[in-house]
Amino acid sequence: MALPDSFDLIFFGGTGDLALRKLLPGLYYRHRDSKDTRGWRSYAASRQKLGREQYIEMITATCRRYIPAADFDERAWTAFTQSIDYLSIDGAGGTGFAELAERLRDSGQRIRVFYLSTAADLFSTICAHLAAAGLVTPLSRVVLEKPLGRDLASATRINEEVGKIFEERQIYRIDHYLGKETVQNLLALRFANSIFEPLWHRVAVRDVQITLAETVGVEERGGYFDHYGSLRDMVQNHLLQLLCIIAMEPPVSIDPDAVRDEKLKVLKALRPFTPDTVRAKIVRGQYRPGAIDGKAVPGYLEEKGIPAHSTTETFIAMRVDLDNWRWARVPFYLRTGKRMQERVSEIVINFRGVPYAILPGTDGDTNRLVIRLQPDEGIKLFVSAKIPGAEMRVRPVDLDLDFGKTFKTRRWDAYERLLMDAISGNLTLFMRRDELDAAWRWIDPIQEAWAVQGDPPKPYTSGTWGPTASSALIAREGLAWREET
Ligand code: BG6
Repeated sequence: MALPDSFDLIFFGGTGDLALRKLLPGLYYRHRDSKDTRGWRSYAASRQKLGREQYIEMITATCRRYIPAADFDERAWTAFTQSIDYLSIDGAGGTGFAELAERLRDSGQRIRVFYLSTAADLFSTICAHLAAAGLVTPLSRVVLEKPLGRDLASATRINEEVGKIFEERQIYRIDHYLGKETVQNLLALRFANSIFEPLWHRVAVRDVQITLAETVGVEERGGYFDHYGSLRDMVQNHLLQLLCIIAMEPPVSIDPDAVRDEKLKVLKALRPFTPDTVRAKIVRGQYRPGAIDGKAVPGYLEEKGIPAHSTTETFIAMRVDLDNWRWARVPFYLRTGKRMQERVSEIVINFRGVPYAILPGTDGDTNRLVIRLQPDEGIKLFVSAKIPGAEMRVRPVDLDLDFGKTFKTRRWDAYERLLMDAISGNLTLFMRRDELDAAWRWIDPIQEAWAVQGDPPKPYTSGTWGPTASSALIAREGLAWREET
Protein backbone atom coordinates (compact mmCIF):
# COMPACT_ATOMS: atom_id res chain seq x y z
CA MET A 1 0.00 0.00 0.00
CA ALA A 2 1.47 3.34 -1.01
CA LEU A 3 1.42 6.04 1.60
CA PRO A 4 1.00 9.69 0.68
CA ASP A 5 4.22 11.65 0.13
CA SER A 6 3.51 13.83 3.10
CA PHE A 7 1.46 13.67 6.26
CA ASP A 8 1.45 14.78 9.89
CA LEU A 9 0.58 12.11 12.42
CA ILE A 10 -0.19 13.38 15.89
CA PHE A 11 -0.68 10.71 18.48
CA PHE A 12 -2.08 11.40 21.91
CA GLY A 13 -1.04 8.88 24.56
CA GLY A 14 2.49 9.07 23.15
CA THR A 15 4.10 7.46 26.20
CA GLY A 16 1.37 4.81 26.55
CA ASP A 17 1.59 1.11 25.99
CA LEU A 18 -0.11 1.14 22.61
CA ALA A 19 2.20 3.80 21.17
CA LEU A 20 5.31 2.04 22.43
CA ARG A 21 4.33 -1.50 21.57
CA LYS A 22 2.42 -1.05 18.35
CA LEU A 23 2.22 2.40 16.77
CA LEU A 24 5.88 3.38 16.86
CA PRO A 25 7.18 -0.05 15.76
CA GLY A 26 4.59 -0.08 12.94
CA LEU A 27 5.64 3.35 11.81
CA TYR A 28 9.29 2.36 11.99
CA TYR A 29 8.73 -0.56 9.63
CA ARG A 30 7.00 1.67 7.11
CA HIS A 31 9.83 4.20 7.32
CA ARG A 32 12.46 1.53 6.96
CA ASP A 33 10.75 -0.04 3.95
CA SER A 34 9.73 3.12 2.08
CA LYS A 35 11.85 4.98 -0.42
CA ASP A 36 10.98 8.57 0.25
CA THR A 37 9.82 9.56 3.70
CA ARG A 38 10.97 13.16 3.65
CA GLY A 39 7.43 14.47 3.96
CA TRP A 40 6.42 12.25 6.92
CA ARG A 41 6.24 13.87 10.34
CA SER A 42 5.01 12.48 13.62
CA TYR A 43 4.25 14.26 16.85
CA ALA A 44 3.90 12.29 20.05
CA ALA A 45 1.85 14.01 22.71
CA SER A 46 1.34 13.12 26.33
CA ARG A 47 0.98 14.85 29.66
CA GLN A 48 4.50 13.99 30.74
CA LYS A 49 6.92 16.89 30.72
CA LEU A 50 9.68 15.50 28.55
CA GLY A 51 12.07 17.07 26.12
CA ARG A 52 12.30 15.66 22.58
CA GLU A 53 15.69 14.07 23.29
CA GLN A 54 14.37 12.37 26.41
CA TYR A 55 11.40 11.03 24.50
CA ILE A 56 13.57 9.63 21.73
CA GLU A 57 15.79 7.95 24.33
CA MET A 58 12.76 6.45 25.97
CA ILE A 59 11.25 5.05 22.77
CA THR A 60 14.61 3.78 21.58
CA ALA A 61 14.94 1.75 24.76
CA THR A 62 11.40 0.37 24.65
CA CYS A 63 11.09 -0.24 20.91
CA ARG A 64 14.32 -2.22 20.98
CA ARG A 65 12.37 -4.66 23.11
CA TYR A 66 9.31 -4.76 20.88
CA ILE A 67 10.98 -4.87 17.47
CA PRO A 68 12.79 -8.17 16.84
CA ALA A 69 16.58 -7.72 16.80
CA ALA A 70 16.79 -8.92 13.20
CA ASP A 71 14.49 -6.09 12.12
CA PHE A 72 16.05 -3.36 14.25
CA ASP A 73 18.41 -1.52 11.95
CA GLU A 74 20.32 1.20 13.84
CA ARG A 75 20.59 3.52 10.84
CA ALA A 76 16.98 3.11 9.85
CA TRP A 77 15.90 3.65 13.44
CA THR A 78 17.93 6.85 13.78
CA ALA A 79 16.55 8.15 10.49
CA PHE A 80 13.05 7.32 11.69
CA THR A 81 13.45 9.12 15.01
CA GLN A 82 14.43 12.27 13.14
CA SER A 83 10.87 12.49 11.88
CA ILE A 84 9.45 12.41 15.43
CA ASP A 85 8.81 15.37 17.67
CA TYR A 86 7.41 15.41 21.18
CA LEU A 87 4.95 17.76 22.85
CA SER A 88 3.63 17.90 26.34
CA ILE A 89 -0.15 18.30 26.01
CA ASP A 90 -2.77 17.94 28.67
CA GLY A 91 -5.78 16.64 26.75
CA ALA A 92 -8.19 17.22 29.62
CA GLY A 93 -6.86 20.58 30.81
CA GLY A 94 -6.31 21.95 27.32
CA THR A 95 -2.70 23.09 27.71
CA GLY A 96 -0.22 22.51 24.90
CA PHE A 97 -2.62 22.82 21.95
CA ALA A 98 -1.35 26.29 21.04
CA GLU A 99 2.15 24.87 20.87
CA LEU A 100 0.92 22.10 18.58
CA ALA A 101 -0.79 24.68 16.38
CA GLU A 102 2.47 26.56 16.19
CA ARG A 103 4.38 23.46 15.03
CA LEU A 104 1.74 22.65 12.43
CA ARG A 105 1.43 26.25 11.27
CA ASP A 106 2.56 25.73 7.67
CA SER A 107 1.01 22.36 7.10
CA GLY A 108 -2.67 23.14 6.51
CA GLN A 109 -2.59 21.47 3.09
CA ARG A 110 -1.11 18.22 4.35
CA ILE A 111 -2.95 15.13 5.54
CA ARG A 112 -3.29 15.36 9.29
CA VAL A 113 -4.10 12.30 11.39
CA PHE A 114 -4.93 12.68 15.07
CA TYR A 115 -4.65 9.30 16.74
CA LEU A 116 -6.35 9.30 20.15
CA SER A 117 -5.03 6.36 22.11
CA THR A 118 -6.40 7.74 25.36
CA ALA A 119 -9.38 6.89 27.55
CA ALA A 120 -12.62 7.32 25.58
CA ASP A 121 -13.92 9.95 28.00
CA LEU A 122 -11.20 12.29 26.72
CA PHE A 123 -12.12 11.97 23.05
CA SER A 124 -14.69 14.78 22.98
CA THR A 125 -12.53 17.14 25.04
CA ILE A 126 -9.43 16.59 22.91
CA CYS A 127 -11.43 17.09 19.71
CA ALA A 128 -12.90 20.32 21.09
CA HIS A 129 -9.42 21.61 21.97
CA LEU A 130 -8.15 20.67 18.50
CA ALA A 131 -10.99 22.62 16.92
CA ALA A 132 -10.52 25.60 19.21
CA ALA A 133 -6.84 25.74 18.27
CA GLY A 134 -7.83 25.80 14.58
CA LEU A 135 -6.17 22.46 13.93
CA VAL A 136 -8.99 20.61 12.19
CA THR A 137 -8.72 21.00 8.42
CA PRO A 138 -10.71 19.28 5.65
CA LEU A 139 -7.74 16.93 5.23
CA SER A 140 -7.74 15.98 8.91
CA ARG A 141 -8.81 12.61 10.32
CA VAL A 142 -9.26 11.34 13.81
CA VAL A 143 -8.60 7.77 14.92
CA LEU A 144 -10.53 6.61 17.99
CA GLU A 145 -9.44 3.62 20.02
CA LYS A 146 -11.92 1.10 21.39
CA PRO A 147 -13.90 0.70 23.59
CA LEU A 148 -15.89 3.70 22.48
CA GLY A 149 -18.18 4.14 25.47
CA ARG A 150 -19.53 1.69 28.03
CA ASP A 151 -23.04 1.48 26.60
CA LEU A 152 -25.18 2.98 23.87
CA ALA A 153 -25.83 6.20 25.81
CA SER A 154 -22.16 6.97 26.48
CA ALA A 155 -21.13 5.95 22.94
CA THR A 156 -23.83 8.23 21.53
CA ARG A 157 -22.59 11.12 23.63
CA ILE A 158 -19.01 10.67 22.44
CA ASN A 159 -20.01 10.19 18.81
CA GLU A 160 -22.17 13.29 18.88
CA GLU A 161 -19.48 15.45 20.42
CA VAL A 162 -16.79 14.20 18.03
CA GLY A 163 -19.30 14.47 15.17
CA LYS A 164 -19.63 18.21 15.79
CA ILE A 165 -15.99 18.62 14.83
CA PHE A 166 -15.20 15.82 12.39
CA GLU A 167 -17.44 14.56 9.62
CA GLU A 168 -18.18 10.83 9.59
CA ARG A 169 -15.79 10.37 6.63
CA GLN A 170 -13.01 11.76 8.85
CA ILE A 171 -13.63 9.43 11.80
CA TYR A 172 -11.69 6.16 12.00
CA ARG A 173 -13.04 3.93 14.79
CA ILE A 174 -10.50 1.23 15.27
CA ASP A 175 -11.02 -2.44 16.04
CA HIS A 176 -7.58 -3.95 15.68
CA TYR A 177 -8.98 -7.42 14.96
CA LEU A 178 -10.03 -6.14 11.54
CA GLY A 179 -6.40 -5.30 10.82
CA LYS A 180 -5.20 -8.84 11.44
CA GLU A 181 -3.88 -10.52 8.32
CA THR A 182 -6.08 -13.60 8.74
CA VAL A 183 -9.23 -11.57 9.10
CA GLN A 184 -8.52 -9.98 5.75
CA ASN A 185 -7.74 -13.43 4.46
CA LEU A 186 -11.20 -14.41 5.53
CA LEU A 187 -12.49 -11.79 3.12
CA ALA A 188 -10.23 -13.27 0.44
CA LEU A 189 -11.37 -16.80 1.27
CA ARG A 190 -15.02 -15.86 0.98
CA PHE A 191 -14.94 -13.41 -1.90
CA ALA A 192 -11.98 -14.50 -4.02
CA ASN A 193 -13.01 -18.16 -4.26
CA SER A 194 -16.15 -19.58 -5.73
CA ILE A 195 -16.13 -22.94 -3.96
CA PHE A 196 -17.15 -21.80 -0.49
CA GLU A 197 -20.11 -19.55 -1.22
CA PRO A 198 -22.49 -22.41 -2.24
CA LEU A 199 -21.82 -23.97 1.18
CA TRP A 200 -21.88 -20.79 3.21
CA HIS A 201 -25.38 -21.00 4.69
CA ARG A 202 -27.75 -22.91 6.91
CA VAL A 203 -28.27 -25.85 4.55
CA ALA A 204 -24.62 -26.89 4.73
CA VAL A 205 -23.40 -25.34 7.99
CA ARG A 206 -24.29 -26.99 11.28
CA ASP A 207 -22.69 -24.50 13.66
CA VAL A 208 -20.07 -21.80 13.85
CA GLN A 209 -17.68 -21.28 16.74
CA ILE A 210 -15.50 -18.27 17.39
CA THR A 211 -12.98 -18.48 20.20
CA LEU A 212 -10.67 -15.71 21.34
CA ALA A 213 -8.75 -17.27 24.21
CA GLU A 214 -5.86 -15.58 25.98
CA THR A 215 -3.43 -16.94 28.56
CA VAL A 216 -2.67 -13.50 29.97
CA GLY A 217 -4.65 -12.05 32.85
CA VAL A 218 -5.54 -8.39 33.20
CA GLU A 219 -1.83 -7.44 33.53
CA GLU A 220 -1.36 -3.77 34.37
CA ARG A 221 -4.85 -2.83 33.18
CA GLY A 222 -6.88 -3.97 36.18
CA GLY A 223 -8.46 -0.55 36.78
CA TYR A 224 -9.64 -0.32 33.18
CA PHE A 225 -10.71 -3.92 32.81
CA ASP A 226 -12.76 -4.10 35.98
CA HIS A 227 -14.86 -1.22 34.69
CA TYR A 228 -15.54 -3.00 31.38
CA GLY A 229 -15.33 -6.80 31.63
CA SER A 230 -15.09 -9.24 28.74
CA LEU A 231 -18.50 -8.39 27.29
CA ARG A 232 -17.53 -4.79 26.60
CA ASP A 233 -13.82 -5.38 26.11
CA MET A 234 -13.98 -8.28 23.64
CA VAL A 235 -17.52 -9.25 22.62
CA GLN A 236 -18.95 -5.84 21.72
CA ASN A 237 -16.14 -5.25 19.25
CA HIS A 238 -13.72 -8.03 18.29
CA LEU A 239 -16.10 -10.98 18.46
CA LEU A 240 -19.00 -9.17 16.81
CA GLN A 241 -16.77 -7.85 14.04
CA LEU A 242 -15.49 -11.35 13.28
CA LEU A 243 -19.06 -12.61 13.31
CA CYS A 244 -19.98 -9.89 10.81
CA ILE A 245 -17.21 -10.86 8.40
CA ILE A 246 -18.23 -14.50 8.51
CA ALA A 247 -21.94 -13.97 8.26
CA MET A 248 -22.32 -11.00 5.94
CA GLU A 249 -23.66 -11.14 2.41
CA PRO A 250 -21.16 -10.49 -0.38
CA PRO A 251 -20.81 -6.70 -0.61
CA VAL A 252 -21.18 -5.13 -4.05
CA SER A 253 -17.59 -3.91 -3.84
CA ILE A 254 -14.78 -3.58 -1.35
CA ASP A 255 -15.56 0.10 -0.87
CA PRO A 256 -15.87 1.09 2.80
CA ASP A 257 -19.59 1.74 2.76
CA ALA A 258 -20.42 -1.34 0.71
CA VAL A 259 -18.66 -3.54 3.26
CA ARG A 260 -20.00 -1.66 6.26
CA ASP A 261 -23.58 -1.76 4.94
CA GLU A 262 -23.39 -5.56 4.89
CA LYS A 263 -21.83 -5.79 8.33
CA LEU A 264 -24.57 -3.56 9.70
CA LYS A 265 -27.24 -5.93 8.34
CA VAL A 266 -25.66 -8.77 10.32
CA LEU A 267 -25.68 -6.71 13.51
CA LYS A 268 -29.34 -5.91 12.91
CA ALA A 269 -30.12 -9.60 12.44
CA LEU A 270 -28.70 -10.55 15.85
CA ARG A 271 -31.54 -11.90 17.94
CA PRO A 272 -31.90 -9.65 21.01
CA PHE A 273 -31.41 -11.27 24.40
CA THR A 274 -34.16 -11.21 27.00
CA PRO A 275 -33.53 -11.68 30.75
CA ASP A 276 -34.48 -15.36 30.34
CA THR A 277 -32.24 -16.03 27.38
CA VAL A 278 -29.38 -14.19 29.08
CA ARG A 279 -29.59 -16.80 31.85
CA ALA A 280 -30.06 -19.72 29.50
CA LYS A 281 -27.60 -18.90 26.74
CA ILE A 282 -24.75 -16.94 28.28
CA VAL A 283 -22.11 -18.18 30.68
CA ARG A 284 -19.95 -15.63 32.44
CA GLY A 285 -16.91 -16.60 34.44
CA GLN A 286 -14.06 -15.16 36.47
CA TYR A 287 -10.62 -16.72 36.83
CA ARG A 288 -9.27 -18.11 40.07
CA PRO A 289 -5.63 -18.95 40.87
CA GLY A 290 -4.15 -21.72 38.76
CA ALA A 291 -1.19 -22.41 36.51
CA ILE A 292 -0.32 -21.39 32.97
CA ASP A 293 2.49 -23.32 31.30
CA GLY A 294 3.39 -24.81 34.67
CA LYS A 295 3.71 -21.40 36.35
CA ALA A 296 1.40 -20.44 39.22
CA VAL A 297 -0.75 -17.37 38.51
CA PRO A 298 -3.02 -15.39 40.85
CA GLY A 299 -6.79 -15.21 40.57
CA TYR A 300 -8.61 -12.16 39.21
CA LEU A 301 -9.52 -10.90 42.69
CA GLU A 302 -5.84 -10.89 43.68
CA GLU A 303 -4.75 -8.81 40.67
CA LYS A 304 -3.59 -5.21 41.06
CA GLY A 305 -6.41 -2.66 40.95
CA ILE A 306 -9.26 -5.17 41.33
CA PRO A 307 -11.76 -4.64 44.18
CA ALA A 308 -11.90 -7.61 46.56
CA HIS A 309 -15.52 -8.48 45.71
CA SER A 310 -15.53 -7.61 42.02
CA THR A 311 -18.13 -9.43 39.93
CA THR A 312 -16.63 -8.40 36.58
CA GLU A 313 -16.44 -11.26 34.10
CA THR A 314 -13.15 -12.38 32.55
CA PHE A 315 -14.82 -15.10 30.48
CA ILE A 316 -17.92 -15.33 28.34
CA ALA A 317 -19.46 -18.09 26.30
CA MET A 318 -22.69 -17.42 24.46
CA ARG A 319 -25.01 -18.93 21.93
CA VAL A 320 -26.08 -16.38 19.39
CA ASP A 321 -28.75 -16.52 16.68
CA LEU A 322 -28.96 -14.58 13.46
CA ASP A 323 -32.51 -14.09 12.32
CA ASN A 324 -32.13 -13.96 8.56
CA TRP A 325 -32.58 -16.35 5.65
CA ARG A 326 -28.95 -17.34 5.33
CA TRP A 327 -28.36 -18.28 8.96
CA ALA A 328 -31.76 -19.12 10.50
CA ARG A 329 -31.36 -21.85 13.16
CA VAL A 330 -27.57 -22.11 12.78
CA PRO A 331 -26.08 -21.68 16.25
CA PHE A 332 -23.16 -19.29 16.52
CA TYR A 333 -21.11 -19.94 19.64
CA LEU A 334 -18.88 -17.13 20.78
CA ARG A 335 -16.31 -17.51 23.52
CA THR A 336 -13.57 -15.37 24.98
CA GLY A 337 -11.57 -15.51 28.17
CA LYS A 338 -8.45 -14.50 29.97
CA ARG A 339 -6.12 -17.00 31.68
CA MET A 340 -7.27 -19.84 29.47
CA GLN A 341 -5.35 -23.01 28.76
CA GLU A 342 -3.96 -21.85 25.41
CA ARG A 343 -3.64 -18.61 23.53
CA VAL A 344 -5.72 -19.28 20.49
CA SER A 345 -8.03 -17.26 18.31
CA GLU A 346 -9.92 -19.18 15.72
CA ILE A 347 -13.12 -19.45 13.78
CA VAL A 348 -14.56 -22.88 13.16
CA ILE A 349 -17.22 -23.58 10.57
CA ASN A 350 -18.65 -27.04 11.15
CA PHE A 351 -20.43 -28.48 8.14
CA ARG A 352 -23.22 -31.02 8.26
CA GLY A 353 -22.35 -34.68 7.78
CA VAL A 354 -23.09 -36.75 4.70
CA PRO A 355 -26.83 -37.36 4.24
CA TYR A 356 -26.41 -41.12 4.37
CA ALA A 357 -23.34 -43.11 5.39
CA ILE A 358 -22.36 -45.75 2.86
CA LEU A 359 -18.82 -46.08 4.14
CA PRO A 360 -18.17 -47.33 7.66
CA GLY A 361 -17.33 -44.60 10.17
CA THR A 362 -18.80 -41.76 8.17
CA ASP A 363 -22.01 -41.14 10.03
CA GLY A 364 -20.54 -38.24 12.06
CA ASP A 365 -19.66 -34.73 10.95
CA THR A 366 -16.21 -34.47 9.44
CA ASN A 367 -15.99 -31.42 7.29
CA ARG A 368 -14.87 -28.38 9.10
CA LEU A 369 -13.06 -25.25 8.14
CA VAL A 370 -10.78 -23.79 10.78
CA ILE A 371 -9.52 -20.28 10.31
CA ARG A 372 -6.73 -19.64 12.77
CA LEU A 373 -5.89 -16.04 13.66
CA GLN A 374 -3.26 -16.68 16.29
CA PRO A 375 -0.79 -17.76 17.48
CA ASP A 376 -0.05 -19.24 14.05
CA GLU A 377 -2.05 -17.97 11.09
CA GLY A 378 -3.59 -20.37 8.67
CA ILE A 379 -6.57 -22.25 7.37
CA LYS A 380 -7.33 -25.94 7.74
CA LEU A 381 -10.02 -27.81 5.89
CA PHE A 382 -10.88 -31.21 7.36
CA VAL A 383 -12.05 -33.90 4.95
CA SER A 384 -12.52 -37.66 5.26
CA ALA A 385 -9.82 -39.76 3.63
CA LYS A 386 -9.20 -43.46 3.35
CA ILE A 387 -6.60 -44.89 5.67
CA PRO A 388 -4.08 -46.83 3.51
CA GLY A 389 -4.54 -50.59 3.70
CA ALA A 390 -6.80 -53.40 2.64
CA GLU A 391 -9.82 -52.22 4.57
CA MET A 392 -12.08 -49.37 3.49
CA ARG A 393 -11.67 -47.26 6.58
CA VAL A 394 -11.73 -43.48 6.66
CA ARG A 395 -10.74 -40.78 9.08
CA PRO A 396 -10.61 -36.96 9.01
CA VAL A 397 -7.39 -35.43 7.69
CA ASP A 398 -6.63 -31.79 7.25
CA LEU A 399 -5.63 -29.78 4.24
CA ASP A 400 -3.37 -27.34 5.93
CA LEU A 401 -2.52 -23.88 4.67
CA ASP A 402 0.08 -22.30 6.92
CA PHE A 403 0.38 -18.64 5.96
CA GLY A 404 3.77 -18.33 7.66
CA LYS A 405 5.26 -21.09 5.49
CA THR A 406 3.41 -20.20 2.29
CA PHE A 407 4.07 -16.48 2.32
CA LYS A 408 7.52 -16.01 3.69
CA THR A 409 7.36 -12.25 3.95
CA ARG A 410 6.99 -10.49 7.29
CA ARG A 411 3.33 -10.15 8.21
CA TRP A 412 2.20 -6.69 9.17
CA ASP A 413 0.91 -6.19 12.64
CA ALA A 414 -2.77 -5.21 12.79
CA TYR A 415 -1.98 -1.73 14.10
CA GLU A 416 0.64 -1.16 11.44
CA ARG A 417 -1.95 -1.93 8.78
CA LEU A 418 -4.69 0.19 10.33
CA LEU A 419 -2.43 3.13 10.96
CA MET A 420 -1.40 3.07 7.30
CA ASP A 421 -5.04 2.76 6.25
CA ALA A 422 -5.92 5.83 8.31
CA ILE A 423 -3.06 7.79 6.78
CA SER A 424 -4.02 6.68 3.27
CA GLY A 425 -7.70 7.41 3.87
CA ASN A 426 -9.09 3.88 3.58
CA LEU A 427 -12.09 3.41 5.88
CA THR A 428 -12.96 -0.18 4.91
CA LEU A 429 -11.53 -1.75 8.07
CA PHE A 430 -12.94 0.84 10.48
CA MET A 431 -16.33 0.87 12.16
CA ARG A 432 -19.02 3.25 11.07
CA ARG A 433 -21.13 4.94 13.71
CA ASP A 434 -24.29 2.99 12.92
CA GLU A 435 -22.40 -0.30 13.30
CA LEU A 436 -21.18 0.73 16.70
CA ASP A 437 -24.66 1.83 17.76
CA ALA A 438 -26.17 -1.47 16.60
CA ALA A 439 -23.54 -3.42 18.55
CA TRP A 440 -24.20 -1.48 21.76
CA ARG A 441 -27.97 -1.77 21.26
CA TRP A 442 -27.53 -5.54 21.32
CA ILE A 443 -25.07 -5.56 24.23
CA ASP A 444 -26.97 -3.23 26.61
CA PRO A 445 -29.84 -5.63 27.52
CA ILE A 446 -27.29 -8.30 28.49
CA GLN A 447 -25.54 -5.94 30.83
CA GLU A 448 -28.87 -4.76 32.23
CA ALA A 449 -30.10 -8.32 32.84
CA TRP A 450 -26.91 -9.17 34.71
CA ALA A 451 -27.29 -6.06 36.86
CA VAL A 452 -30.87 -7.00 37.81
CA GLN A 453 -30.25 -10.72 38.26
CA GLY A 454 -27.10 -10.17 40.33
CA ASP A 455 -25.71 -13.68 39.70
CA PRO A 456 -21.96 -13.72 40.34
CA PRO A 457 -19.72 -14.95 37.51
CA LYS A 458 -18.84 -18.65 37.66
CA PRO A 459 -15.33 -19.30 38.94
CA TYR A 460 -12.84 -21.17 36.77
CA THR A 461 -9.29 -22.25 37.43
CA SER A 462 -6.67 -20.32 35.48
CA GLY A 463 -5.16 -22.53 32.80
CA THR A 464 -8.42 -24.26 31.87
CA TRP A 465 -11.00 -23.64 29.15
CA GLY A 466 -13.34 -21.74 31.47
CA PRO A 467 -16.27 -22.79 33.69
CA THR A 468 -17.76 -26.23 33.06
CA ALA A 469 -21.05 -24.51 32.30
CA SER A 470 -19.45 -23.40 29.03
CA SER A 471 -19.07 -26.99 27.81
CA ALA A 472 -22.58 -27.73 29.08
CA LEU A 473 -23.96 -24.80 27.07
CA ILE A 474 -22.76 -26.21 23.77
CA ALA A 475 -23.32 -29.85 24.76
CA ARG A 476 -27.06 -29.13 25.00
CA GLU A 477 -27.14 -29.39 21.23
CA GLY A 478 -24.88 -32.41 21.11
CA LEU A 479 -21.88 -30.25 20.16
CA ALA A 480 -18.48 -29.57 21.68
CA TRP A 481 -16.00 -26.71 21.51
CA ARG A 482 -13.03 -27.43 19.29
CA GLU A 483 -10.10 -27.38 21.70
CA GLU A 484 -7.27 -29.00 19.74
CA THR A 485 -4.21 -26.91 19.19
C1 BG6 B 1 -7.82 -5.65 23.37
C2 BG6 B 1 -8.43 -5.89 24.73
O1 BG6 B 1 -8.72 -4.94 22.55
O2 BG6 B 1 -7.53 -6.89 22.75
C3 BG6 B 1 -7.48 -6.71 25.59
O3 BG6 B 1 -8.68 -4.64 25.35
C4 BG6 B 1 -7.07 -7.97 24.87
O4 BG6 B 1 -8.07 -7.02 26.84
C5 BG6 B 1 -6.58 -7.67 23.46
O5 BG6 B 1 -6.04 -8.59 25.63
C6 BG6 B 1 -6.33 -8.94 22.67
O6 BG6 B 1 -5.74 -8.61 21.44
P1 BG6 B 1 -4.80 -9.64 20.69
O7 BG6 B 1 -4.49 -8.97 19.40
O8 BG6 B 1 -3.60 -9.86 21.56
O9 BG6 B 1 -5.60 -10.89 20.54
